[in-house]
Amino acid sequence: MRLLLPTFLIGAVCASAQTNTADTYLASESPIAKTGLLANIGSSGAKSQGAKPGIVIASPSHSNPDYLFTWTRDSALVFQAIIDQFTLGIDTSLRSQVDNFVASQKIIQQVSNPSGSVSSGGLGEPKFNIDQTAFTGAWGRPQRDGPALRANALITWANFLISQSNTSYVANTLWPIIKLDLDYVASFWNQSTFDLWEEVNSSSFFTTAVQHRSLRQGAALATAIGQTSVASGYTTQAANLLCFLQSYWNAAGYMTANTGGGRSGKDANTVLASIHTFDPAAGCDAVTFQPCSDRALANLVTYVNAFRSIYTINSGIATNVGVATGRYPEDGYMGGNPWYLTTLAVAEQLYDALSVWKQQGTLSVTAVSQPFFAALSPGISIGAYPSSTSTYTTLTAAVKNFADSFIAVVAKYTPSGGGLAEQYSRSNGAPVSAVDLTWSYAALLTTLGAREGVVPVSWGAKGLTVPSTCERGGGGGGGTVAVTFKVQATTTFGENIYVTGSVDALVNWSPDNALILSAATYPIWSITINLPASTSIEYKYIRKFNGAITWESDPNRKFTTPAAGSFTLNDSWK
Ligand SMILES: *[C@@H]1O[C@H](CO)[C@@H](O)[C@H](O)[C@H]1NC(C)=O
Ligand SMILES: *[C@@H]1O[C@H](CO)[C@@H](O)[C@H](O)[C@H]1NC(C)=O
Ligand SMILES: *[C@@H]1O[C@H](CO)[C@@H](O)[C@H](O)[C@H]1NC(C)=O
Ligand SMILES: *[C@@H]1O[C@H](CO)[C@@H](O)[C@H](O)[C@H]1NC(C)=O
Repeated sequence: MRLLLPTFLIGAVCASAQTNTADTYLASESPIAKTGLLANIGSSGAKSQGAKPGIVIASPSHSNPDYLFTWTRDSALVFQAIIDQFTLGIDTSLRSQVDNFVASQKIIQQVSNPSGSVSSGGLGEPKFNIDQTAFTGAWGRPQRDGPALRANALITWANFLISQSNTSYVANTLWPIIKLDLDYVASFWNQSTFDLWEEVNSSSFFTTAVQHRSLRQGAALATAIGQTSVASGYTTQAANLLCFLQSYWNAAGYMTANTGGGRSGKDANTVLASIHTFDPAAGCDAVTFQPCSDRALANLVTYVNAFRSIYTINSGIATNVGVATGRYPEDGYMGGNPWYLTTLAVAEQLYDALSVWKQQGTLSVTAVSQPFFAALSPGISIGAYPSSTSTYTTLTAAVKNFADSFIAVVAKYTPSGGGLAEQYSRSNGAPVSAVDLTWSYAALLTTLGAREGVVPVSWGAKGLTVPSTCERGGGGGGGTVAVTFKVQATTTFGENIYVTGSVDALVNWSPDNALILSAATYPIWSITINLPASTSIEYKYIRKFNGAITWESDPNRKFTTPAAGSFTLNDSWK
């Protein structure tokens, strides 16, 4: 006799087994992941000989592939996890690791490399040698997510220290490091970048999303330590980034991961963006692609389904059950296999979503997210379901089971011993590529935290609205900095000081339209003007008295505006 069960019931029956598998696996795997992660941090890590203190090696693998380098992105994501664990009180033994990281990044930032020096684009260099020297071989550079991710981790740390009244350390030690990264982001966000997989040179959703977060929380930190004009420069560029972020959404109902590359655009890039810009205070806002937003859920199901038919190990698995997922379906690197960290990211996004629905006490199915929910609960209608309804209970249980089923996939393909490599074979699930990938271990730990309801501190995503017009920013593309002109000049009664110079904002050398300075702090005259960022500018002061104009003596004064923030000129009449 054949027993015919509706699809949903089959899912539910399997799901409790998946939840048991996830419980058992995570209990045994999490200490292995923690040990594996710390083993890869210098100088005392068991597998990171030769790495300086605070330097994260990507993997101990030294050949095929050689990952014995430190990537700014991987290191920042690993330390975001460590800083979250310390500041949320999950592991209070990690402080010296964080201090080492801060010290190592302060050094690495100053290392000139093929992308430039600290002040000319070098912060976009993707990877360094583990003794903190430059890697000079050919590579996909620059990668502009690194400085943003590092700033995000260090700002989390700074905010914690401020809450502990340790503001002087933040202002004196952390802020100069963070500001370099944020100025870089503000200046270069609108220039092309290699994506996080180091292959496509265009604009990339993950990069834009983490850049947006960095300037948003950077502006809040700048304000908290009294750097208000710097904060306003960051806020301007954050608004431009938020605007640009929306442009990755496509009519097929998912985020196109990169503007270049000629691929489908279905990519773990987008899922990683959602979990690494999760803000539990932002509800299910779609503008910042929160994990429970309709766009992020629609995107998730599209991403997952892209792998169902291409990997042998996924064959025969029902559409409401998790499968192995990789970076993007067209991937061919090291055989183009599923990755542990991308499969875990799917589960993490869903656990984050569950935390927010629980906190809100309601869940909405919109026209955009209906395909996601319908995959788990066929026939589900558009609507808002408060937690008192049976539909809410059914849907959240289905989402939890679905999330756990991705953990079960990872559990199934974790070798005995628990080591997590980079990839696992698409044909038989055996580990492939670099062993002991630090990022794989960090992903296991953050996914476990999310499953247990741990949420990060808010970074300011709540209630953001998208500007009505998108402006280009930074790098001479329209970003501005507030420049204060101060000049010491003694004058006679009725005489005033003006400034004019070589750009529109300085009225293009027009003495008639020159801008008048304030004498409020006489004999220092001053005015603050927004000027184009990273631009070489010439100017002169002039005096006007009874209609007569007197120019300063030659040559013209000259300076270059910084990439972002503010700048003050301290001049004396000549
Ligand atoms: C502030 O934090 C730094 C970094 O961990 C630490 O070295 C310093 O002792 C702290 N200062 C105070 C006053 O707690
Ligand atoms: C720069 O910003 C504009 C406006 O948002 C956008 O159209 C353009 O694609 C961006 N270019 C890059 C390389 O980010
Ligand atoms: C990346 O793309 C930009 C814009 O098209 C181009 O100027 C730059 O040379 C490219 N970089 C590399 C390494 O191909
Ligand atoms: C002008 O003076 C201020 C403080 O007095 C200082 O912060 C600033 O760096 C000076 N500007 C220049 C260009 O030296």
